Amino acid sequence: MENVTTERLAFRAPQPDDGDAIFALMNDFGIVKYLTSVPWPYKRSDADTYIELARTGRAEGKGLYYLILDQNTSEPIGTIDLRFDPEETAHFGYWLGTSVWGRGYASEALAAMLDFGFGTLGLKRIWGAAMPDNPASIRVMEKCGLAHAGTMRVKRPNFGDEVGMVQLDMMRADWLTRGGKAIPA
Ligand SMILES: CC(C)(COP(=O)(O)OP(=O)(O)OC[C@H]1O[C@@H](n2cnc3c(N)ncnc32)[C@H](O)[C@@H]1OP(=O)(O)O)[C@@H](O)C(=O)NCCC(=O)NCCS
Repeated sequence: MENVTTERLAFRAPQPDDGDAIFALMNDFGIVKYLTSVPWPYKRSDADTYIELARTGRAEGKGLYYLILDQNTSEPIGTIDLRFDPEETAHFGYWLGTSVWGRGYASEALAAMLDFGFGTLGLKRIWGAAMPDNPASIRVMEKCGLAHAGTMRVKRPNFGDEVGMVQLDMMRADWLTRGGKAIPA
């Protein structure tokens, strides 16, 4: 999705020297409390771990990981990723620095990711999950056209517990019905 731009955003794979920027954004419990795989307290080395996960995940064909950039400044403002499941399915995750919440950026990024996943990668189903007390994320998925698809239990290794999450998904046919069109890789 490196060549994809939206009205206000751009995307690129994280690089080794992005650690400081990721740490500065992510070292915020207001973000981490809604995520299942990010440690808290968040350490500077955790940003490097993420960058390495993004590199190996991509190299091994397990997923695609992007920094979300403000198109005007090219500065990172968050991340979005797509992780592959069996049967032409994938699930996504995203977060944004708190200073840019409420501007529609997550919805813009997810819409681009859905176009990329269905239109460019040819996926059949894309899903996401959020904690029930995370209405902003649920709303982002609803705005992008995902439908409620039940609930699931997810382990949070770094918190040592398990949380209930609501799952939302979209099928390729629904994306086409909404006027989805392919975008270049
Ligand atoms: C979830 C997150 C990415 C949303 O980013 P964002 O750019 O602010 O989202 P958008 O502006 O595109 O859309 C947010 C929507 O939620 C709504 N919303 C926000 N807070 C809300 C609340 N407390 N109750 C109900 N709706 C709420 C907004 O009004 C908006 O909907 P609208 O456009 O219909 O008004 C951001 O809050 C975040 O990073 N949270 C922490 C990490 C996280 O939760 N990641 C997702 C894990 S599933």
